[in-house]
Amino acid sequence: MEIISKDRIQIAADCLRNGGLVAFPTETVYGLGANALNPIAVAGIFEAKKRPTFDPLIVHISELEQLKSLFQQPVTPLVMQLAEKFWPGPLTIVHKKSEIVPDIVTSGLDEVAVRFPSHPIALELIKLAGVPVAAPSANLFGQLSPTTHKHVAKQNMNIDFIIESDNLEKTVGIESTVVSVENNVCTILRPGVITATDIELAIPGVIVKNPGKNIKISSPGLLKSHYSPLKPLYFIDDINNIPANAGIILHKKIPEITFRNCIYTSETENLLEVASNLFSALHLMEENPEVTQIYIQKVVENGIGIAIMDRLYKATHQYQK
Ligand code: TXA
Ligand code: MG
Repeated sequence: MEIISKDRIQIAADCLRNGGLVAFPTETVYGLGANALNPIAVAGIFEAKKRPTFDPLIVHISELEQLKSLFQQPVTPLVMQLAEKFWPGPLTIVHKKSEIVPDIVTSGLDEVAVRFPSHPIALELIKLAGVPVAAPSANLFGQLSPTTHKHVAKQNMNIDFIIESDNLEKTVGIESTVVSVENNVCTILRPGVITATDIELAIPGVIVKNPGKNIKISSPGLLKSHYSPLKPLYFIDDINNIPANAGIILHKKIPEITFRNCIYTSETENLLEVASNLFSALHLMEENPEVTQIYIQKVVENGIGIAIMDRLYKATHQYQK
């Protein structure tokens, strides 16, 4: 595993095209990429992450044209409307796959998930590789998603390159919104910073279904336990009653109380800020030797707050008292 700066991106792109594994920044979280058209390379992702093969991957593209070869033609007009309104950006569209998409990418499903990221390094890498890039988040299965190259490196996965990010970009910080599209109905499979309301406002007449916790599809972003730090994580019930060895993550300022190990994702519960800083705050607590357990504040479960709480319910699930 080698960490490289973006000046050496061509080496990483060649490696990807030839079947290697490359972790790269996106505007959401780091992805662990392989040539999506090479089933053996894609198998390497599952191995490196210790990810069960029933969990399908997102295929990343760098221009709209690539969509045509991945989705069965003709596509539902709603797919193109979503693409035009939200791409490049943190939206993943699930739709009937074409024959060139290997089964291992979709875990045998008839649909494939496609995303056109906006991060310049991700775009350049995919463009130089000249192939669509299958990429889950670049973490061991079930653990915290990475938002920096250091978060990726500490997972010690068997991969070829990690590309540094200069962090000039303001990142979204949590994974993309995943929607499946059938006719004029769009179903939210995983909430993200693009919300149901954003989609309804952008595309008049669209029907957006938001099954939330009642979702029936076996899609691991939908597993109950996921995104967990390696230390117990609990929600804060009573701010005055937190153990001394706890790290505390807050999303709005609590006046007149000071804590030893405390991180603010935002001082004003600005949900974009919270999302952007959420995983890095959890990583910092995971790394801090003074902290043996983590307590985190909830946010309002509205708009982007739905996506944030989705990640937090999963992250706290195995530690619920
Ligand atoms: O922001 C993101 O989406 C990041 C960056 C790297 O692009 N990727 C990411 O990938 O979060 P991953 O593998 O951690 O999550 C992909 C989610 C999973 O919940 C998976 O089950 C779902 O997308 N998914 C992928 N393909 C699908 C399909 N064909 N049908 C239903 N769900 C699918
Ligand atoms: Mg993931």
